[in-house]
Amino acid sequence: MMASITISNDKQRIRRPLCLWIWLLPVVSCQVIPEVTPFLEDVRLHRGQRYQLTCSASQGSPPLTFQWLKDRVALRDTSQLTIRRLDVFSSMLVIEAVREEYAGNYTCVVSNSAGEDTYTTQLHVLVPPRWIREPYDVSGVVGQSVTLECNVGGFPIPTVSWTRTQGFTSDEKTTVLRKHWRVTEYGDLITRNLEKDDRGFYTCEAFNGVGEGVRKTIRLEVQVPPAIQPIPSVVTVTREESIRLMCNVTGDRPLIVSWKKDGISLGSSSHRVQISELSTVGGVLLELSLEESTRTDSGVYTCIATNNYGERSIRTVVNVQEPPGPPENLNAINVWSRTIRVTWSPSYSGRSPVIRYILQYWKEDVERNVS
Ligand SMILES: *[C@@H]1O[C@H](CO)[C@@H](O)[C@H](O)[C@H]1NC(C)=O
Ligand SMILES: *[C@@H]1O[C@H](CO)[C@@H](O)[C@H](O)[C@H]1NC(C)=O
Repeated sequence: MMASITISNDKQRIRRPLCLWIWLLPVVSCQVIPEVTPFLEDVRLHRGQRYQLTCSASQGSPPLTFQWLKDRVALRDTSQLTIRRLDVFSSMLVIEAVREEYAGNYTCVVSNSAGEDTYTTQLHVLVPPRWIREPYDVSGVVGQSVTLECNVGGFPIPTVSWTRTQGFTSDEKTTVLRKHWRVTEYGDLITRNLEKDDRGFYTCEAFNGVGEGVRKTIRLEVQVPPAIQPIPSVVTVTREESIRLMCNVTGDRPLIVSWKKDGISLGSSSHRVQISELSTVGGVLLELSLEESTRTDSGVYTCIATNNYGERSIRTVVNVQEPPGPPENLNAINVWSRTIRVTWSPSYSGRSPVIRYILQYWKEDVERNVS
C-alpha cells in the first residue's frame, strides 16, 4: 500500500511517496497521510459579505479530523461563524457577514493517526476610511511644535492629503504646504516651528478606493507671545540732554507694555517724563522721553510687555554724564620744607571715570600748577 509524506513550506508543497508501516499485532496496517486540496486563494471582501471556505482531503485514511484555525488559533462554531462537517472528506467554514476583525489567515488542518496536512488562505476585509480620532481645532504658540492629527483607519490603508487656506477670511484652498510643515507616515501634519502666517483652516482628506472617503476641516490658531525689538544695552547722554527710549513690541492683543526704572513703574509722574503709546501693524510702540536729564535719571530702565501668551522684557542702562564734583576733605599733612602730603576724597564722578586731578598751589605771588 502507498502513503505519502508532505514536505511543505509557505507556497510550495512537495509530496513524496512513502509507505508507512504501522505494526500492530496481529495485523499489519498501512495508513495514508491526508492531503488537502488547495482551495480559495486570498480574497478581498467588503464588510457584510459572505465568506465561505470548503476544505477537502484528496486522500487520507479515515477517520479524518478537520480543524480550522485563524491566525494559528483554533476556531469554534459561533453564531456568526459556522463550521460544518460535510462528509468524511470535507469540512466547511462560513462567515455570514465579514467584519474587520475577521481579516486574517485561515488554515484548515486535516489529520489522521498517520499525520496531517494544512492549507492556509488569507482574508482581507475592505473597510472604507473612518476616523480613529476625528481631527480637532488646534492652537499653538509661535516657534513651538504643533501636530494636526488625521488619524484614519481602513483597509487598504487610506492615503491622506492636506489642504489649507491662508488665514480665516479666504476660502481659497491650497495644497502647497509651507516648507516647515511635513506629513508623517500616519497622515499627521506637523511642524517644529509654528509661524504666525500658518493660521487658517486645514482640511484633511483620506481615501482608499473603498467607499466615500472622509474629510474634515479644522481651525489652526496661532498665538503670538510678545517680542521686543532689541535696543542698545547702554544709553549715554550728557546732563540736560533729553533721553528717548523706544520699546517696539509685536504680539497678539491685548498687549500691555510699560516702562520701569530701577524696578519702579514710570508713569507721567513728572512733567519731564512722557510716555506715548502708538499702535502699530503687529503690536505697540511705547516711547519714553525724559526732558532735561538730571543725575537721578541714571539707572536701569526696563520695558515689560505682556499678553495672554507670555511676558518679555528688555533692559538698558542709562548714564547721565556730567562734570565730576570738586574733591572733598582736602587736607595737607606732613608739611616739610621741601615736601608736602595732600589728601582728599573723590566726590561724585559724574558717571564717567575721573581721568585726572589737577592740584594747584600758590607760593607768595607766584602761581604754579602740578598735575
Ligand atoms: C497572514 O499571512 C501573511 C502572509 O504569510 C502575512 O504577511 C500576514 O502578516 C499574516 N496575517 C496575520 C494576521 O497573521
Ligand atoms: C518695530 O519692529 C518691527 C519688526 O518687529 C519693524 O518692522 C518696525 O519697523 C519697527 N518699528 C520701529 C518704529 O522701529
